[in-house]
Amino acid sequence: MIRFYCAETYEGMSARAATFMAAQVLAKPDSVIGLATGSTPIGMYTALADKCSRGEITFKDVRTVNLDEYYGIDPTHDQSYRYFMNKNFFEKIDICLGNTNVPNGKAEDPQAECARYDALIDSYGGIDMQLLGIGRDGHIGFNEPGDAFIPGTNYIKLTEDTIDANSRFFASADEVPKYALTTGIRAIMQAKKILMVVNGESKAKILEEAFFGPITPANPASILQLHPDVVVCGDAPAMAIIAEKHPEAIIG
Ligand code: GLP
Repeated sequence: MIRFYCAETYEGMSARAATFMAAQVLAKPDSVIGLATGSTPIGMYTALADKCSRGEITFKDVRTVNLDEYYGIDPTHDQSYRYFMNKNFFEKIDICLGNTNVPNGKAEDPQAECARYDALIDSYGGIDMQLLGIGRDGHIGFNEPGDAFIPGTNYIKLTEDTIDANSRFFASADEVPKYALTTGIRAIMQAKKILMVVNGESKAKILEEAFFGPITPANPASILQLHPDVVVCGDAPAMAIIAEKHPEAIIG
């Protein structure tokens, strides 16, 4: 089942998503949460950190597994996803850093790191709630469009489109790592709940195609149509095409 929520603004989308994530942590304080990077979830992370500092929720028993990491980048690099998570979320909440996990972008053997990460997720008993953004080519995590859905954590070459999209965070496109490690489709699809955040007009078309078009590895997010419990929180520009073509799908 997929539930679409549409907020007028990015702030509204972030507040709504934070409410869902906080509800998960309140209901199950030792939740395993799959986390995502990108610019979209930053507002949600800020809203959750505010709830935590007001004493409304605690992350002290929460364990996290991040979706992905650039390969070849040091965790201390200011564009690594480990650095992003520490700065935008972990340092602002009461989580134990030892309970947070991001694939190791400096692992000597990327395939061994993929196997380690899958084993780690299995040892946690899977993911209770998986947060996702969506790339403008439909990627989730760094599962890029291709000929097949890849089940396990995988070492992948980024598409030109993703390198271009992410170059805004680097001095130039040349500096964007060309490879990444990403949780595969299996861990994402086995998560008990999926929470997707999406904002901005540039995502409207791919979002509508992902949830109302064919299920195809050419649009990796489309596999979420097969998941039993998906909540999509969007802002009005991102939800515009769904609102126009499928207004009945938006429940709040
Ligand atoms: C990045 C990340 C994804 C993220 C997506 C969208 O490359 N690997 O996890 O969801 O692209 O990013 P943004 O939210 O900045 O649009």
